[in-house]
Amino acid sequence: MSQAELVIVANRLPVDRVEGPDGEPTWRTSPGGLVTALEQVMRGMHGAWVGWGGKADLDLEPFDFDGTRLVPVSLTESELRDYYEGFSNGTIWPLYHDVIATPEFKRSWWDAYVRVNRRFAEAAAANVAEGGFVWVHDYQLQLVPQMVRELRPDVTIGYFHHIPFPAYALYAQLPWRRQVLEGLLGADVIGFQRVADAGNFQRSIRRLLHYPTKGDTVTVPTINDQPRTVISKAYPISIDVDTFLELAHKPEVLARAAELREQFGSTKLMLGVDRLDYTKGIRHRLKAYGELLADGHLTGKDATLVQIASPSRPGVEAYQDLRNEIEITVARINGDYSTVETTPIRYLHQGYPREEMVALYLAADVMLVTALRDGMNLVAKEYVAVRQDNSGVLVLSEFAGAADELGSALLVNPHDIEGMKDIMMRALAMPEAEQARRMKTMRKKVIDNDVARWGRNFVADIDHIRERRAHAA
Ligand code: G6P
Repeated sequence: MSQAELVIVANRLPVDRVEGPDGEPTWRTSPGGLVTALEQVMRGMHGAWVGWGGKADLDLEPFDFDGTRLVPVSLTESELRDYYEGFSNGTIWPLYHDVIATPEFKRSWWDAYVRVNRRFAEAAAANVAEGGFVWVHDYQLQLVPQMVRELRPDVTIGYFHHIPFPAYALYAQLPWRRQVLEGLLGADVIGFQRVADAGNFQRSIRRLLHYPTKGDTVTVPTINDQPRTVISKAYPISIDVDTFLELAHKPEVLARAAELREQFGSTKLMLGVDRLDYTKGIRHRLKAYGELLADGHLTGKDATLVQIASPSRPGVEAYQDLRNEIEITVARINGDYSTVETTPIRYLHQGYPREEMVALYLAADVMLVTALRDGMNLVAKEYVAVRQDNSGVLVLSEFAGAADELGSALLVNPHDIEGMKDIMMRALAMPEAEQARRMKTMRKKVIDNDVARWGRNFVADIDHIRERRAHAA
């Protein structure tokens, strides 16, 4: 088996295990944005992807899929509980999202995190070619860069952090705060979504490790060698604009959008599309809309809310609690304000096919992205990308990374329910000329900075490091 010039390491493989026509399990490309993004980076390269297969105890040999070597990492039930649901999603996720939920600090979770990170690192080290590039993704694998460096000092290592990096005062709560920073600093390039995330990271480095930082660089001392320079800066991720535009041109998608519009008639359609996660501000959005109905500012006939909440991390208690709370709220609002003909909230606790999603984007008058904290939020960018006639209004939380680029949205603080009610009313009443002015500016931003560009920017910095190294050798 030949080794790969580029090895992607992510918690999940880019494929889902599904049942084939003959009843045998088979693999299908998963619809995520990262997959399309990295497909482009990998094109023309011999690439491999190390990740978990999505089920416990799947002990599988590496295999080829669509020109990429897939290297499954097996996780037991108890590792999924302690590493994935525990440390990743019960400690790091809430801590890094401004403690919206309370992080738990359990030593047994940390032990599993170290053990599983090592397994990913070993798989990467075994599959990368001499002098190759290992690109690690996200908070589940923060120790992998350093572990790969120890195993394979010849390779260049990148790490991209898809979620926020918290302010020092929050990060400092983590009992393993130094180990995690050292883990990340194993990389040559560490990418964040926002400039503010990179700033938070560098502040933690200075305060906890006392390593000097200057501009986009951190100087890491080594025991026997010259100090190492690590680049840490913002590379805001994006979407594959072409894929979304293609979908938005498909006759069946256009027909479905027209059908939806017709069904809603003169009723305005507000849309929310989120994983069912407490960071997304779904409760706050429901509260604002519910109060507008209660105050008599709106009826379900004036504006309806379609909320897609795709099931997520059902094994984690905070997600179970959130689901209960949201479902009670939806039922209460619908109970109080439905008529025989109208239902104010259509709530779908379902994963949703991409084509249907694009039809909804095309049909929606107002898109609501009201996250309390979000690394980027690609839904905001997807909505903007498909609105080719420049109509439609994006309501966007200032706490989502996308707000840095999409300043022409109606920006909201989702904690301010009165403010959010005002913004919703303003969005519903926005004149077409204003919609067009704002949408045009946002579309230009999204189209100019699509995910291919994000990949190129990151890889350009990796190449730069490689060249410098080649000169030094
Ligand atoms: C966020 C994270 C990803 C993660 C995704 C879905 O976008 O940044 O790393 O894969 O959520 O969550 P899940 O736990 O189902 O992988």
